[in-house]
Amino acid sequence: MDKKDTITVIDNSTGKELELPILRPTEGIPTIDVRALYRELGYFTYDPGFLATASCRSSITFLDGENGILRYRGYPIEQLAEKSTFLEVCYLLYYGELPNKEQQEAFNEDIRTHTLLHEAIKRFFSGFRRDAHPMGIMVGVVGALSSFFHDHENNVHDASMRQQAAHRLIAKMPTIAAWCYRYAHGLPFMYPQNDLGYAENFLHMMFALPTEDYTPPPLFVKALDLIMILHADHEQNASTSTVRLTGSSEANPFAAVSAGIASLWGPAHGGANEAVIKMLLDIVHSDNDVQYYVDRAKDKTDRFRLMGFGHRIYKNFDPRAVIIRKSCHDILEQLEPGNPYQELFDTAMELEKIALEDDYFKSRNLYPNVDYYSGIILLAMGIPLNMFTVIFALSRTIGWISHWNEMMQDPESRIGRPRQLYSGEELRNYAKLENR
Ligand code: CMC
Repeated sequence: MDKKDTITVIDNSTGKELELPILRPTEGIPTIDVRALYRELGYFTYDPGFLATASCRSSITFLDGENGILRYRGYPIEQLAEKSTFLEVCYLLYYGELPNKEQQEAFNEDIRTHTLLHEAIKRFFSGFRRDAHPMGIMVGVVGALSSFFHDHENNVHDASMRQQAAHRLIAKMPTIAAWCYRYAHGLPFMYPQNDLGYAENFLHMMFALPTEDYTPPPLFVKALDLIMILHADHEQNASTSTVRLTGSSEANPFAAVSAGIASLWGPAHGGANEAVIKMLLDIVHSDNDVQYYVDRAKDKTDRFRLMGFGHRIYKNFDPRAVIIRKSCHDILEQLEPGNPYQELFDTAMELEKIALEDDYFKSRNLYPNVDYYSGIILLAMGIPLNMFTVIFALSRTIGWISHWNEMMQDPESRIGRPRQLYSGEELRNYAKLENR
């Protein structure tokens, strides 16, 4: 190995030296292979929150946080947002290339044939309280799917079985998501209508009534498709890493995806889109005292953060936020003047402007992320707040299952088993305390 392709670690307590290989990515930041460190020198590495740790090799998504770049399988997100459809992006993420016409048709057809849920699944819904959070229901119902597709789906080393699990998940997620909403509102479950497109079908299952005709508005169908494209994958984020870690024990893929949904729910991750709207509504109700909220976000004694702001990776801008802000603006222009969403959008723009001129946010590279404007679009579509993260989960399912599929084929993949820096008591003797 060329010396230039290694890093030398010197243990100053013993004088021992170790050459560690530098792994070069196709693009992005070189990575040190530390696997020999424990074996040769007897040390672990310490990196809470994985700030400097690559947990795997992956060829699915590329992020460059400094330059605001996001690419799926090499294609820039801006191009996919403009030209592609969500199902095309699903194909791209899972199979690695954009489909030709026949491949796309066959894929769409297979997704269409899996949209129904087993009738017994309905009974799971009725076990939940009507006011249950739909994310809680989704975690449960997707987890429950593992009991319906257990034996042969558990054969995770068979590519055709993995493909079938992936197609089932992509197909059934809109049905599950829409039924979470229907159940909470005491509405009858609408079955998928398979002559409709993917986003269209979801809106149909959300809003159609058995008593009248409903056609999902094309403006909202397009907007939802875009939101799904932008949320489809994002490299090794918390929920994707959760799916990988869960799946690394060769667990059932439906159970692994259910674990991903649970991770996504948190407000620091996918739950942020719901929190953003709550924050914007609070600001509007406070007579638009934007500065007060900016000051609160800067105050370290207050746990309040500007929701939809900041990102672990993006340090200049989140390319998804740029696309979604424009889409939000375009959609609002096409709605009736004086609609309530315009006020939220104006408040969001004002908050963004003040924050971006503030030293606190500038010095920490805090910018709006994908969740900052997406909620305004969803709200304008008539989707209630507690369904926002459900839509994120529905969109991210393709990312999760593509990573799971990639991991299953990776010869270097092993069960995930981090080590720790133990900080508890040293050996104690129970006998000494027997007469206490
Ligand atoms: N408002 C105010 N201060 C913030 C914010 C914020 N939204 N985000 C980060 N900071 C400050 C933080 O207090 C810290 O300051 P200091 O250096 O003085 O201690 C500094 O910026 C670095 O923050 P961090 O928490 O160490 O950064 P992180 O990379 O661990 O966290 C984050 C990233 C997204 C969890 C965080 O920015 C955050 O909580 N944002 C709000 C929630 C949010 O919008 N989440 C959605 C993320 S994008 C969608 C997704 O992929 O899930």
